[in-house]
Amino acid sequence: MLQKRILLIVGGGIAAYKACELVRLIRKGGGDVTCVLTEGGAHFVTAMTLAALSENPVHTTLWDLKNEVEMGHIQLSRQADLVVVCPATADLMARMAAGIADDLATTLLLATDKPVMAVPAMNVRMWQHAATVRNVATLRASGVTVLEPDEGAMACGEFGPGRLPEPAAVWTAIEAALAPRQPLPAAAALPLAGRHVLVTAGPTHEPIDPVRYIANRSSGRQGFAIAEAAARAGARVTLVAGPVALPTPPRVVRVNVETAREMAAAVEAALPADVAVMVAAVADWRTADAGPHKLKKDGSGTPPPLALVENPDILANLCRNPRRPALVVGFAAETDDVIAHAVAKRARKGADWIVANDVSGDVMGGATNAVHIVAADGVDSLPEMPKEHVAEALVARIAQTLSPMAPAPSTPPTEFPA
Ligand code: CTP
Repeated sequence: MLQKRILLIVGGGIAAYKACELVRLIRKGGGDVTCVLTEGGAHFVTAMTLAALSENPVHTTLWDLKNEVEMGHIQLSRQADLVVVCPATADLMARMAAGIADDLATTLLLATDKPVMAVPAMNVRMWQHAATVRNVATLRASGVTVLEPDEGAMACGEFGPGRLPEPAAVWTAIEAALAPRQPLPAAAALPLAGRHVLVTAGPTHEPIDPVRYIANRSSGRQGFAIAEAAARAGARVTLVAGPVALPTPPRVVRVNVETAREMAAAVEAALPADVAVMVAAVADWRTADAGPHKLKKDGSGTPPPLALVENPDILANLCRNPRRPALVVGFAAETDDVIAHAVAKRARKGADWIVANDVSGDVMGGATNAVHIVAADGVDSLPEMPKEHVAEALVARIAQTLSPMAPAPSTPPTEFPA
């Protein structure tokens, strides 16, 4: 390992003694380590121990003027390659999540521009408390790597997750965090470089009145996985998404819509595209007259009539569009006669491929999918696999099919990956 610099913040918990072993492992692995000992941490290990093991001065207070003049806390937080908080107590993580800077450790954590790793150690109830769960989620969302604690007997006599992972495991995580990233292949070498991929995903919501709507069980996961796989393959990706709470995959342009008619308009606006993959579970019908007022019970016991009208078929219309993408892929969620229905649907809608799946189980919202790709030259049935793998298989097939074709007219050159 190259000589990497680690700033180790030792929090106040009984597991602080394991931080001494971690310092030893970092030194043995060729790393340079500077320790910051919190007031709580100093109740469990001494600055002398950490200084002797690290062969570096140990910092304990924000108000050490000598250090402030010679180095300053900002510099201390930035000269490291990685900041590791070990043990990260519930209190320390709460203050990190809230952005509090009331001692040297939390001030450094707020001032750093370097990656931060937290290694939690606490009582099982504290680890499982809603406040800690929330704080860990906040820290992870803001880019902090929070390791999972070990499970087992604790110093306090209870049993469960919350123990500090063994120092060797923490060292392995540090090495992984410091390992040089594999450079991404050059954009031109990626199979979908220079292509524009349009994906629809998720359900649509069709309003009944201002507070009610017609929906379906689509989670959007399969469509989002396809958008992500296409972006990773170098494509410019437009993801037209119905109402789902999924994060936008990296380097994907997302257009949020709610109704089928909004989805149809967003698809039209995204053209031209080289390929369209229509995964959305578009509502077949919408209410004929969704008014601006909430429907009220009238006391008669008779529910109001709900008149429905058919929504535009976005896939079929796209296939007839003069700007039809070179490859149009539809999905078909079926509960019986899966392949026969998919073959008929492919012909009826004019799609190149229909990816058919059996939704009689819990596919909608589930993590796996077993699909049949129905094309002009036959049916390719894939075994059940995670939706991400289905996405990769489909994107590989799309790339292979598009490779002899010229890109869509005004597709700008691929900007990704940076
Ligand atoms: N689709 C669409 N617009 C619609 C309905 C469906 O674009 N109004 C697309 C879906 O995104 C999917 C394909 O058509 O790619 C098939 O969807 P599915 O719901 O299985 O087809 P339907 O036309 O609704 O057929 P049916 O309900 O009769 O099975």
